[in-house]
Amino acid sequence: MLLEIKNVFKKVTEPSGEVITISHADNLTLDAGGQMLLTGSSGSGKTTLLHMIAGLLSPSGGEIYFNGKRIDNMPERERDLWRARNIGYVFQKLNLIEALTAEENILLAGYFAGGDMAELKRRAHDLLERVGLAGKKDVLPGKLSIGEQQRVAVVRAVINKPVLLLADEPTASLDAENSRIVLGLLRGLCSENGTALILSTHDEGVKQQFDEWFDIKGGRFLSHGHN
Ligand SMILES: Nc1ncnc2c1ncn2[C@@H]1O[C@H](COP(=O)(O)OP(=O)(O)O)[C@@H](O)[C@H]1O
Ligand SMILES: [Mg+2]
Repeated sequence: MLLEIKNVFKKVTEPSGEVITISHADNLTLDAGGQMLLTGSSGSGKTTLLHMIAGLLSPSGGEIYFNGKRIDNMPERERDLWRARNIGYVFQKLNLIEALTAEENILLAGYFAGGDMAELKRRAHDLLERVGLAGKKDVLPGKLSIGEQQRVAVVRAVINKPVLLLADEPTASLDAENSRIVLGLLRGLCSENGTALILSTHDEGVKQQFDEWFDIKGGRFLSHGHN
């Protein structure tokens, strides 16, 4: 088992002083190389849960294990290194660095993980070609369409061949055609590299394309469906 989540939750204090639970996962497991869909309406706690899995946010309670090792209480430095080596992340808001070109955004992620630069450049080139952006490698994110930016974010997230890829609503801002392309790309690249995938969505159409999913509602996993 690659990922095991035991009763993880995040509580926050409202300005009124009231403490509320904004995300809750009772029991979630994912095998190495597995692909999982995380569904739920807007505000149900998907992004919060993905941030906790990536170690970007500490849970208020519960335990997260990665390859049998507890990761939710790791010291920050160790956690940053663990994340760089194991996790790929396609952020809901992409988080591309506006001052860097498409290629530089991708290479920076590889640099942080300590990859060999010549090898990274070759891989970045191949991947950009594959997503139809070879001709736009020197373009700044602001000059790319949303669909193109989304594809740069996908390449950046897979450049290190992560063990686990977290993709937060990667199709939310795309039309049907681009949505299909990005989903196919994410799933195909993950299968090829043996990368496990957790993809969040509030789009019913995306659900039809997965065999199983976890539905997070009111900040809790309620159902585990099968198509
Ligand atoms: N730091 C925070 N403080 C207070 N409320 C938050 C914070 N982060 C998220 N929320 C709230 O928690 C809920 C879940 O957010 P989120 O995880 O972004 O949901 P989703 O990704 O499913 O749309 C939302 O109602 C959001 O407004
Ligand atoms: Mg979200």
